Amino acid sequence: MHRRTKAAVLKLLLLLELHVLGTRGELREAFLTQATGQACQTVQVGEPWTSSSPIKCYLECMLFYPDTCQSIIYNSYTQNNCRSGSVAFRPMVMVITSIPETDSTDDILYARQPIPPCDTSGNFALYEICGTTVCLHLSSSLVNYTQAKANCAQMNSRLFIANSMVRLSVFWHVSRDYLNYNTWLGLTDISQEDTFVWDNGDLLSDEMDQYVWHTNQPNNDGDEDCMEARHSEVPSPRGINDDNCYQLKKYICEPYDAYDAK
Ligand SMILES: *[C@@H]1O[C@H](CO)[C@@H](O)[C@H](O)[C@H]1NC(C)=O
Repeated sequence: MHRRTKAAVLKLLLLLELHVLGTRGELREAFLTQATGQACQTVQVGEPWTSSSPIKCYLECMLFYPDTCQSIIYNSYTQNNCRSGSVAFRPMVMVITSIPETDSTDDILYARQPIPPCDTSGNFALYEICGTTVCLHLSSSLVNYTQAKANCAQMNSRLFIANSMVRLSVFWHVSRDYLNYNTWLGLTDISQEDTFVWDNGDLLSDEMDQYVWHTNQPNNDGDEDCMEARHSEVPSPRGINDDNCYQLKKYICEPYDAYDAK
């Protein structure tokens, strides 16, 4: 279904349900997942307002922000208790502007995003983080960057591209939780030093440039043109690092059509 149509249908359903059921808890369960700032966070869109229940907050959010309302932050105990958020993601230490903070009493409620096409009978599987589902192949072997890229291409896929907050969060947490080792990301400055390009040809945006890097990285220490999440060190560094492309690491592939459907 078209996204706009889907949002409209969802809105109608919510209105009907709201009418029939009032603001009972089970209604919330059907459409929205509730979590704390420890589990999921988001980035605020627009100004906060006052709303009498989480469901009303979400409804108003969908009316005010039909294209971007993918989560809300709600707190029954404060004024201006309702905030609209963009897509939800797992907290990352390098993103300090996200809400709710891990120790706050705010709740986050997020809507599940569309599930991409995924041939789960072969090399790929679905992974869900805070309502976002991705289709991924996680490597079992350690290979250099060129080989990782070639291995993905052989499966109609490419190295994972983390060109949004939620995709960076997916990459970070999947590589840490499932691979638990240094993992190639589809980002290099091979063509021109200090010009970082995703494997689909897009430039690293200024917005993402603020978030991706580990402290004092990238430093190009000895011609390091390929980017990784480095989980082999304890404690795990907090962002992306540049390394020599010939190093051997794990990698994550995503089918072209799953990326296109995001
Ligand atoms: C990458 O690894 C492949 C073998 O998997 C090897 O043939 C190739 O020479 C390596 N490339 C670099 C740049 O190390």
